[in-house]
Amino acid sequence: MSILIKNGRVITAADNYIADIYIENEKIKLIGTNLTVNADVVIDAENKFVFPGGIDPHVHLDMPFMGTYSSDNYETGTRAALFGGTTTVIDFVIQKQGNSLKAALNEWNGRAEGNAVGDYAFHMSVTDFNEDTKAEIKDMIEEEGITSFKTFMAYKGALMIDDKQMIGLMYEVKKHGGLLTTHATNGDMIDYIVAKHKSEGKLSPLYHYLSQPEITESEATNRFTDMAYQTGVPAYVVHVSSEDALNHIRDASKRNQKVFAETCIQYLVLDASVYDKGFESAKWVMSPPIREKKDQAGLWAGIDQGTVQTVATDHCPFTLEQKKAGEKDFSKIPNGAPGIENRMELLFSEGVRKGKISLNKFVDVNSANAAKIFGMFPQKGTIAVGSDADIVIFDPNEKHTLSAKTHHMNCDYSSYEGLEITGKCKTIILRGKVAVDDNKILVEKGYGKFIKRNKVTAIV
Ligand code: URP
Ligand code: ZN
Ligand code: ZN
Repeated sequence: MSILIKNGRVITAADNYIADIYIENEKIKLIGTNLTVNADVVIDAENKFVFPGGIDPHVHLDMPFMGTYSSDNYETGTRAALFGGTTTVIDFVIQKQGNSLKAALNEWNGRAEGNAVGDYAFHMSVTDFNEDTKAEIKDMIEEEGITSFKTFMAYKGALMIDDKQMIGLMYEVKKHGGLLTTHATNGDMIDYIVAKHKSEGKLSPLYHYLSQPEITESEATNRFTDMAYQTGVPAYVVHVSSEDALNHIRDASKRNQKVFAETCIQYLVLDASVYDKGFESAKWVMSPPIREKKDQAGLWAGIDQGTVQTVATDHCPFTLEQKKAGEKDFSKIPNGAPGIENRMELLFSEGVRKGKISLNKFVDVNSANAAKIFGMFPQKGTIAVGSDADIVIFDPNEKHTLSAKTHHMNCDYSSYEGLEITGKCKTIILRGKVAVDDNKILVEKGYGKFIKRNKVTAIV
């Protein structure tokens, strides 16, 4: 199978030029002007951008959580991702407390293998760090290609670890060349405020938002970056939503610490007015909650300055029926929202089109940095000879409206219903195959491949 993409404007984290790209089997073979090779498929990309395939480093597919499962599985979730230009996702394997990491990995392999349409990798979430778990870290990194780990500083009783476990895990991950990510919010503080609200009869989704004030995020972020400094482990804070939390990361980087920040598209585009809609606000019950306009401004500035390296989704959809579990008590609403399909187009429309970020920065936070930080570069995250042929042919001028009626995510609402955006993913190529064209999926479940990752060596 060979493909020739003609006359597109190729944009990577560093480049911006018009060229032809020749793809053979799974890889990019040639890049040049007026290439005269024969190909099975020729795609005219004149007046289009040609981007590296998107990488979403934070998704939860088929995730067991709060008494239910996120509503997109590997098939529906990675397919929806492809429609939105995201060719690789990184999901979180989650250790069950009392069980091994390997058991959790087997469980997640069972969910993904043969079902994924797009490519995927795993972070390993450690929810129970003990001598047995400690002994598994090296193997995860060196044998399984899982080079990043995740901790939760909240969700006590199910996912949260304490600081003693955190420090122990940090030393072990550092020793073997891995990276540690965290959900940085102070679980005990949140649990106390949640209980207080409930005892006062404050039970609507608004109180989910009011139970997680900015300080619960900034305190945990500061604690995490301090602990990472002590141990020397490369650190990555997932779903940074607030200005204060980001400021702690900025401060940490002043002492030459390797600390990365991820935000999510919803924190850049939405604000806390989503919690003024009665029970409908359950759609946006996620942790951390959507914040204020001043936080949006801080996060966009952080991207521009290079303090925020990646924009993810934390895609964790639940249907309206699933959300109803918390109709009488906000603390029972499953936390999470859909977005895997919308990230890249929203980032372009709200970021590039509105003059907040450059085209090259767009590629940085959409794919290149995630590939570098998580050990997949230059296989993924760029357009270069020898890289996987993961490519998005993008019309920067096409206007369209986001809606649950037209999206491909297995969720009966959209977080962005009715939002008109400019810029559309037209043709998506995944490892040398046209995966989406003209709004049709052309690859089957099982085409998606597990990506074994390398140790983290790149400086972003
Ligand atoms: O609300 C969220 N974010 N749900 C998914 C789990 C997590 O905390 O990332
Ligand atoms: Zn989280
Ligand atoms: Zn998450």
